[in-house]
Amino acid sequence: VQIVACGTSYHAGLVAKYWIEGLAGMPCQVEIASEYRYRKVVTLPNTLWIAISQSGETADVLSALRHLDCEQVAATLAVCNVPTSSLVRETDLALLTEAGPEIGVASTKAFTAQLIVLICLAIVLGRQNGHLDASRVTYLYQKLVKIPGAVGKSMKLFDSIRPIAHKLKNARSCLFLGRDTLFPLACEGALKLKELSYIHAEGFASGEMKHGPIALLEDGLPIVSFVSEDEMALKVISNLKEAEARGGYIIVIGTQAAVDLIDFAAAKIVIPDCEPIFAPIVGAIPAQILAYLTALN
Ligand code: F6R
Repeated sequence: VQIVACGTSYHAGLVAKYWIEGLAGMPCQVEIASEYRYRKVVTLPNTLWIAISQSGETADVLSALRHLDCEQVAATLAVCNVPTSSLVRETDLALLTEAGPEIGVASTKAFTAQLIVLICLAIVLGRQNGHLDASRVTYLYQKLVKIPGAVGKSMKLFDSIRPIAHKLKNARSCLFLGRDTLFPLACEGALKLKELSYIHAEGFASGEMKHGPIALLEDGLPIVSFVSEDEMALKVISNLKEAEARGGYIIVIGTQAAVDLIDFAAAKIVIPDCEPIFAPIVGAIPAQILAYLTALN
């Protein structure tokens, strides 16, 4: 699978890579459209080529589509929110996100809708190629249908996020961290914060902190970390302990069980319970609310 997209849609693609490789066992590459369109790309035979775009009109994405090696591509697929868009018209297949019109410039509901479509795609690919058995698919489906309820509950997090946004409003810079599917979510959280509040923010994979970014740590630097209660939890705790020891103001976002593991955090945002595999979908909502409330401040 080759995914091409820009901005927030690119972050959705990065999450999808974890799902497509993890659930369907298929190799998946993700690339920024503005890079892909200008370079000599090598496409593996029988590639499913996916463009993710809210609008379906992003010039870099359309140019990437027109630039691909048709010989090797089995099918082109648009994951798009606008049924009448150029992208949907020019691809072989389309999965519509049906999120309704995105009114604001910052993509929000389109992002969560893209994630839902992409995890469904990963599950279907996994079932069709035999990587997932029927009982696992049923289990995932039963959990998946609970996601809209969890997202609805996340909309009630405004009061608990307000004091954190108040703290962030004077920050010069802010780091976002995560591992696994929560790494792309960290990049998305940082993008939302910089785009809405004009505060510098960067998303990093938690494990990369020690390879350079740790030099940025200073007293009071806000570090927003997405945490999960899976096998990665212990590693995240040790990354965050190091950041806290260097004066970082640690804000954690996760389920109650996950945030309880970080007893040294300065602030916690508790998301409704969900399977760790769905955490980027539910975790996106408090990240968006945090950026929104910080901008209002
Ligand atoms: C960020 C944002 C942008 C878009 C990007 C791609 O909030 O909205 O980064 O995601 O410009 O746009 P689409 O998805 O329409 O191709």
